Amino acid sequence: MKAIVYTQYGIPEVLQLKEVAKPIPKQNEILIRVRATAVNSGDVRLRKADPFAVRFFFGLMNPKTPILGSVFSGEIEQVGSSVTLFKVGDPIFGHTDMSFGTYANYKCFPENGSIALKPINITHQEAAVIPFGGVAALHFLKKASLQQGQKVLIFGASGSVGTAAVQLAKHFGAIVTGVCSTANIDLVQSLGADKVIDYTKEDFTKNGETYDVIFDTVNKIVISNSVKSLTINGKLILSAAGISEIFQGVWVSMTNSKKIKVLTGVISHTAEDIHFLKELIEVGQLKPVIDRTYSLEQIEEAHTYVEKGHKKGNVSITLQSL
Ligand SMILES: NC(=O)c1ccc[n+]([C@@H]2O[C@H](COP(=O)([O-])OP(=O)(O)OC[C@H]3O[C@@H](n4cnc5c(N)ncnc54)[C@H](OP(=O)(O)O)[C@@H]3O)[C@@H](O)[C@H]2O)c1
Repeated sequence: MKAIVYTQYGIPEVLQLKEVAKPIPKQNEILIRVRATAVNSGDVRLRKADPFAVRFFFGLMNPKTPILGSVFSGEIEQVGSSVTLFKVGDPIFGHTDMSFGTYANYKCFPENGSIALKPINITHQEAAVIPFGGVAALHFLKKASLQQGQKVLIFGASGSVGTAAVQLAKHFGAIVTGVCSTANIDLVQSLGADKVIDYTKEDFTKNGETYDVIFDTVNKIVISNSVKSLTINGKLILSAAGISEIFQGVWVSMTNSKKIKVLTGVISHTAEDIHFLKELIEVGQLKPVIDRTYSLEQIEEAHTYVEKGHKKGNVSITLQSL
């Protein structure tokens, strides 16, 4: 099968199209023919080993996981002898969690992995872009126990996590303010935001508004200023926090007088979350946002674009029929 393989960390050119062995499913596994995947910010971080700590988990000198790609949509081509949840031909989408490997024609999954039947009303390209931002946004909004009627500010509302967070927060009944640049105002409004702030013109920490939850999806807020814009018992979500922001978050949680809780950490993926997102898509409450689509052969170009940090929603990758 064809796959995009990388054997060293570095620039997009380390991603090479190669012929590799097609995987064989174990007893409890399904073999998926991948129709579409996506290039996410997480793939870029792994390709570059940025931050350096990536190397402690994914290979100190060279990557131990040679095929990137954490999301997919496709069809089941083969099932292991003990598989009961799915059958050959089922259209399916999901997230690999830490195993990666969807920049390839085929990928094996345990049947109880973070997978679900593909929503019936969207394409493979659209389904493949949902699990990365969708599960991250869902995880943190649940962790913040977002309640109906609460005010939430989503910073970085035009990215993969941000576009999902705006829609999910609306689904949970919150009053949503999205923060993005001028070019993305229409997009964020179209996703249901009640108010949009253009970060190139206005600093949300200076307009006197307060929020029950502030969700920074892109690690760009000034934490000390943002805390002032939270209500008593407010929640500050720092989903893209690096080490320094994690320490700042711990400090804020320990010392602030408003009992503010700071939420960080690496998420894990569950089939339950993927099912939840599928159902929301099928009732029209969650829409995939695709900025650009590339072929597997154009993966270098796709990585170069995503690395710039200004994509609108997601970048999907289409795999040719074999
Ligand atoms: N904790 C976890 O387990 C977890 C899970 C998933 C993702 N993440 C992390 O979350 C981060 C975001 O992921 P993502 O995929 O959503 O990012 P992304 O899609 O690459 O973000 C792109 C968006 O960020 C916006 N942006 C850039 N600079 C901005 C600024 N100064 N202010 C406001 N918006 C700005 C851009 O809008 P403009 O062009 O308008 O600037 C663009 O629409 C990544 O670092 C990723 O690693 C963490």
